[in-house]
Amino acid sequence: MGAKDTRRNRGTLAHRARYALGHPRRVPAHARRALRDAWLRLRHRDHIAYYRAVMASDAARSAEAAVGHNPSREQWARIGRMQFDYLVRHGLRPHHRMLEIGCGNLRAGRLFIDHLQPGHYYGIDISPHILLAAQDTLVREGLQAKLPHLTLADDLTLAFLPDGHFDVVHAHSVFSHSPRHVIEECFAHVGRVLAPGGFFDFTFDRTEGEEHQVLREDFYYRTETLVELAAGYGLSARFMDDWEELPHRQSKIRLTAMSDRARTVGP
Ligand SMILES: C[S@@+](CC[C@H](N)C(=O)[O-])C[C@H]1O[C@@H](n2cnc3c(N)ncnc32)[C@H](O)[C@@H]1O
Repeated sequence: MGAKDTRRNRGTLAHRARYALGHPRRVPAHARRALRDAWLRLRHRDHIAYYRAVMASDAARSAEAAVGHNPSREQWARIGRMQFDYLVRHGLRPHHRMLEIGCGNLRAGRLFIDHLQPGHYYGIDISPHILLAAQDTLVREGLQAKLPHLTLADDLTLAFLPDGHFDVVHAHSVFSHSPRHVIEECFAHVGRVLAPGGFFDFTFDRTEGEEHQVLREDFYYRTETLVELAAGYGLSARFMDDWEELPHRQSKIRLTAMSDRARTVGP
């Protein structure tokens, strides 16, 4: 298992003071985020509206920076490639149908789109600004003929998508920015759109200590919390140990429908 820092509570005043002392040059940027958080909290009580406003503000500076903490293009491309290589190693084939929740500006999506048959990629995001940046990525990469679907979403009920359609559902760095009720809404509905034998992979910021959040932007969960939440909606969870070996600070869980398991191991 990789050496992730999973014990620290980044939300406490003590941690923030220690961090500020250790990284004085990052203090102005954090102070700006804290001010923005206070202002946007006042304007938006609903989390989706709040986070959409965060993305609008980030994307105004740089779409690459908005979908990743490190704004360099090499880093953007590297994290996209890591997601893609991992799923291909886990059996993503061109005929599969894929839903990417929180597709961002297609950091990994551009590789999925290229790999999949035309029309087999469906990306959703809550941010219109980011979806416009996603279109720019399509043009830059010459992927128009692959006819991917890119759709604005307001919640994770997935109500506009068909039953049993997607072999793979993927959400990278989305639940790390989501409060529990948003994740729960996704778990309550994702099983309906999964094809028989399909799976849903998501990353999350893992803590082995107390669950916490930093501003309303970053959320840290215990693995057991998410596993139990998923079980309540008929989804069985597997912690992806081989993802831990990769240089990424989040962890990954794979959900499958419990009814699939009954089909394969039952009489
Ligand atoms: C850190 S970015 C990651 C984007 C992409 N998954 C990637 O790896 O490049 C998080 C993205 O998720 C979107 N997002 C956040 N909460 C969401 C939600 N509840 N439903 C759909 N998209 C969401 C944001 O707008 C943003 O584009």
